[in-house]
Amino acid sequence: MFRLSLFFLLCALLVASSPLDSSAGAAGFTNPIRKVDGSDPFIVWHDGYYYFLSTTWTDARVSRATTIEGLKNPETKVVYKSTSRDRCCNVWAPEIHSIDGQWYLYLTAGRDGTTDLQRTYVLRGGTSPWDNYTFLGRVLNDWAIDSTVATIADKRYLIYSCMSVVQSLCIAPLLTPATIGAVSVISKPTLPWETVGAAVNEGAAVISHSVGGNNTTFLTYSASYCWTSSYSLGLLTLAEGADPLQMRSWKKSGPVMRTANGNYAPGHNGFFKSPDGTQDWNVFHATSNREGTCDGNRYTMVSPVAWAADGSPSLGNPLALSRTLTSPSGEK
Ligand SMILES: *[C@@H]1O[C@H](CO)[C@@H](O)[C@H](O)[C@H]1NC(C)=O
Ligand SMILES: *[C@@H]1O[C@H](CO)[C@@H](O)[C@H](O)[C@H]1NC(C)=O
Ligand SMILES: *[C@@H]1O[C@H](CO)[C@@H](O)[C@H](O)[C@H]1NC(C)=O
Repeated sequence: MFRLSLFFLLCALLVASSPLDSSAGAAGFTNPIRKVDGSDPFIVWHDGYYYFLSTTWTDARVSRATTIEGLKNPETKVVYKSTSRDRCCNVWAPEIHSIDGQWYLYLTAGRDGTTDLQRTYVLRGGTSPWDNYTFLGRVLNDWAIDSTVATIADKRYLIYSCMSVVQSLCIAPLLTPATIGAVSVISKPTLPWETVGAAVNEGAAVISHSVGGNNTTFLTYSASYCWTSSYSLGLLTLAEGADPLQMRSWKKSGPVMRTANGNYAPGHNGFFKSPDGTQDWNVFHATSNREGTCDGNRYTMVSPVAWAADGSPSLGNPLALSRTLTSPSGEK
């Protein structure tokens, strides 16, 4: 009994002294950042603001605030809404990316009443993410959701969830913001933790990290069916110099983030830098529903990315919503 209490006391002390928690003086924030429609979140820091996007199903919105805590009451503008039959509906997973100094918005949309016709579309913005966006076009004619843009060894790629018998991850060179080269599959859901409820790989996000001149590219993705508590994040590792278009170049591990502390089915993450550029942060969604969920009842959480000595990322599992976290470095 005594030993048990001592154990819990030690645990409590360890938790209390964790650098994750906000200490006196440092600004802090609490999760969730967005309570409803926090699905498929994306954040980028640019020029004094965090820009935030998530899935609303009906439109795409860009929100912004100067602090993570401030994203709970951000400025918001609708940047995409369409009555066009082919892309009116199921508007999912908007992301903005800077390509040669110009911002572009990638999103998934399709027809009313079906998710079988989901396609990736792109809009052109301005030199600030806050500028208006004009519709450019459809990027490819196949089922393609959750598109993201990544630069690997100075070449730009579109990475998305594609249908290759089962829901897999595909990659293609991005030739212009609206056109791609030859597509290849880089990951299929084959492992037990990728196939609960349904075989799914989706929601890719790319981050790179350099240790001792060894610059490795990592790709996180969501695995299993979102309507299960097994929905979780997997990791693909691409060694420096390896060809990102070859499936064998990507080494799979995981899950690297899964249900914990009352936050079920964590997934569809994104990475962003702290305002001072020194830290990496993770934004993702989770739900309090024990069965998981695929709908708007998913909230957005933010947590720091730690880097292990061998250069690999540690995302950790979702922390309890009662925790106050220290804000990203450089927030004013
Ligand atoms: C952006 O869109 C809004 C709303 O449609 C419009 O009022 C505004 O004039 C536009 N701004 C620019 C710079 O085009
Ligand atoms: C590492 O590689 C990524 C992707 O190619 C690149 O964006 C980044 O600048 C590189 N970082 C370093 C420190 O070389
Ligand atoms: C580079 O870093 C990766 C990821 O941490 C590691 O797996 C690999 O062994 C490293 N390569 C070298 C040459 O150090």
